[in-house]
Amino acid sequence: MTDSKIAKVRLGADGPEVGAQGLGCMGMSFAYGPTDADEARATLERALELGVTLFDTADAYGQGENERFLSPFFKAHRDELVIATKFALSIPPDNPTTRVVRNDAPYIRQAVEASLKRLDVDVIDLYYMHRRDVKIPIEETVGVMSELVREGKVKHLGLSEVTGGELRAAQAVHPITAVQSEWSLFSRDIEAGVVPTAGELGVALVPYSPLGRGFLTGSFANADTDLTATDFRRQQPRFTGDNAAVNAALLEPVREIAGAHGASLGQIALAWVQRQAASYGVAAVPIPGTRRRGRVEENAAATRIVLGDEEMALLEPIASKVAGERYADMSFSSAGRE
Ligand SMILES: NC(=O)c1ccc[n+]([C@@H]2O[C@H](COP(=O)([O-])OP(=O)(O)OC[C@H]3O[C@@H](n4cnc5c(N)ncnc54)[C@H](OP(=O)(O)O)[C@@H]3O)[C@@H](O)[C@H]2O)c1
Repeated sequence: MTDSKIAKVRLGADGPEVGAQGLGCMGMSFAYGPTDADEARATLERALELGVTLFDTADAYGQGENERFLSPFFKAHRDELVIATKFALSIPPDNPTTRVVRNDAPYIRQAVEASLKRLDVDVIDLYYMHRRDVKIPIEETVGVMSELVREGKVKHLGLSEVTGGELRAAQAVHPITAVQSEWSLFSRDIEAGVVPTAGELGVALVPYSPLGRGFLTGSFANADTDLTATDFRRQQPRFTGDNAAVNAALLEPVREIAGAHGASLGQIALAWVQRQAASYGVAAVPIPGTRRRGRVEENAAATRIVLGDEEMALLEPIASKVAGERYADMSFSSAGRE
């Protein structure tokens, strides 16, 4: 691709202006198998050159390791980028393979301090509640998050995997800049509630896993056989066993459209998210994750592909035919409560 920068989008009514596509950094040290740290660092620099300015991490990605890995890059380019991180997935020291969702004030307060320390910055640009703990009223959680804004520790607030009702209740307490939830050709459950609510309230969407965790690119067809033993995708029902074969066959129209555009499957998946968000009138900044320079170039170039109505119609039935859920335990998602 040429070196011209990607377009910019404002995140929510009062949020920062960012490149129309962000970068998911999770895989650089968590969830998706072995990483080449040098190539991952070069990918961060390349992304910024291309106009990608929203960089996404979380305290839970490798128990803080991902934030620590990103810190030198963030500090070197502090004024050029927007740092997004998250709290809520607590790892009990006596049982480090499990995660407990925590939205209570003492937990949030210690989580923000720990993230600021690991990132080694004075302020987090966009701070998300990663998952919802239904034992704590969302108004209470967002109340604590808004105190962090007043104290100058955080600039903007976000929520991940919330329902439309939860978003509305949160917005009544403090402006919410963005909702980060899974949204792709394969995962469209959020269109039932949170997407229209976000559109109505002027909240931006940050679609995560817009490449269906890589499956939509055709780079793997069955997690059981194609991915390493510790790869998180081996726990996801739609990428394993008989479901994987059913789902791989669903990529045929994506392949056809990619051929017509001289594009890759992944680029068509990304172009679909952009066009779908526009149809709901929501500002959207998808955050495809990659650790490779060539792929960040390919993904950024997808922001320039506009799918036509007929192409959108061809892609429309795919999500309803997907075999298997996006999480083994759907209570981990907004759809489990919507
Ligand atoms: N809020 C939440 O609960 C939540 C949950 C999951 C993820 N996230 C965030 O969202 C980000 C993106 O989601 P994701 O990483 O799960 O899924 P994704 O962006 O849908 O897909 C990432 C996978 O696709 C591969 N890939 C990327 N570009 C490619 C290309 N052009 N061609 C072929 N393969 C390509 C990557 O491999 P390589 O890295 O090897 O290129 C990686 O395995 C994460 O990094 C994280 O920041 C948030």
